[in-house]
Amino acid sequence: MSVRHIALVPAAGSGSRFGAAAPKQYADLLGQPLLRHAIARLAGHPRIDRVVVVLSADDTRFADLDLADLRPIVDARACGGDTRAASVLAGLRSLAGEVAADDWILVHDAARPCLPAAVIDRLVATLEGDPVGGIAALPVADTLKRADGDARIDATVPRDGLWAAQTPQMFRFGVLLEALEHADLGRVTDEAGAVEARGLAPRLVEGDPANLKVTYPRDLALAAHLLSAMEDLP
Ligand code: CTP
Ligand code: MG
Repeated sequence: MSVRHIALVPAAGSGSRFGAAAPKQYADLLGQPLLRHAIARLAGHPRIDRVVVVLSADDTRFADLDLADLRPIVDARACGGDTRAASVLAGLRSLAGEVAADDWILVHDAARPCLPAAVIDRLVATLEGDPVGGIAALPVADTLKRADGDARIDATVPRDGLWAAQTPQMFRFGVLLEALEHADLGRVTDEAGAVEARGLAPRLVEGDPANLKVTYPRDLALAAHLLSAMEDLP
C-alpha cells in the first residue's frame, strides 16, 4: 500500500490572545467557523487521505459543524491537552494502530483558514522520499529589531538564513511520535522544534503569505480578504 497523507488539525486551544468568549477556532469568517475553513482546505485537496481533528475534552461546538459537502474523510477526537504539542501528541497516540510509521502526518493549525492548495502540493512533492519531513515556511523579508524592555531598539538582528515557520508541518508518523514522546511539551512551539531536538534537520518548503494564522481579532479582516480573493480563483 502506498504511503498515506493524513492531516492532523490541533483545535483544542482557548484563543487567549484572540480574547473572544468562544474559542478562536469557532470565530466566524465569512459565515463559517475558522476551523471549518481549515478542514475544508485540507479535505478538498486530492493528496490528503484523511483529516483528523483534535478537540478539547469540553468542546461543545464541533458536532454542529456542517461538513456534509466535504469528502467524508474527516473525523474528530476529544483528546486535546494543555499545550499545542500535547494536543498533537495525544492525536498521534490516538492514531497508533491505524497508521503506518512511514505515513505522512501534516499538522495544520485550525487557526490558518486560507491554506493555498499549492502549499500542500509543494510539501508533498518536495518531501516525497524524505526520511524526516519538513515544514511550510517563508524567508523573513522585514529587517528584524530586538527590543529592550522599553520599546526601544536594542539591536538589529541579521535576517540572513531566517525563515518564519507556518503549517502544515509534515513528518513521518513514526518520526513525529518519537520526537514528541521525548519533547518538553510546555516548551516546544511547533512540531519541527521537537524533531530538531532529536538531531534531525527538517526541510524548509516555501509557504505562502496568504497562509496567515489568526491570532488577534484584527487578523480576521485580512483573512476574509484573502479567502474571498482565493475563492475567485479558477
Ligand atoms: N492548540 C491546541 N491545543 C492547545 C493549544 C493550542 O490544539 N492546548 C491549537 C489551537 O487550537 C490552534 C493551534 O494549536 O489551532 C495554534 O495555536 P494558537 O494559534 O496559539 O491558538 P491558541 O493556543 O488557542 O491561542 P492563544 O495562544 O492565543 O491562547
Ligand atoms: Mg497558543
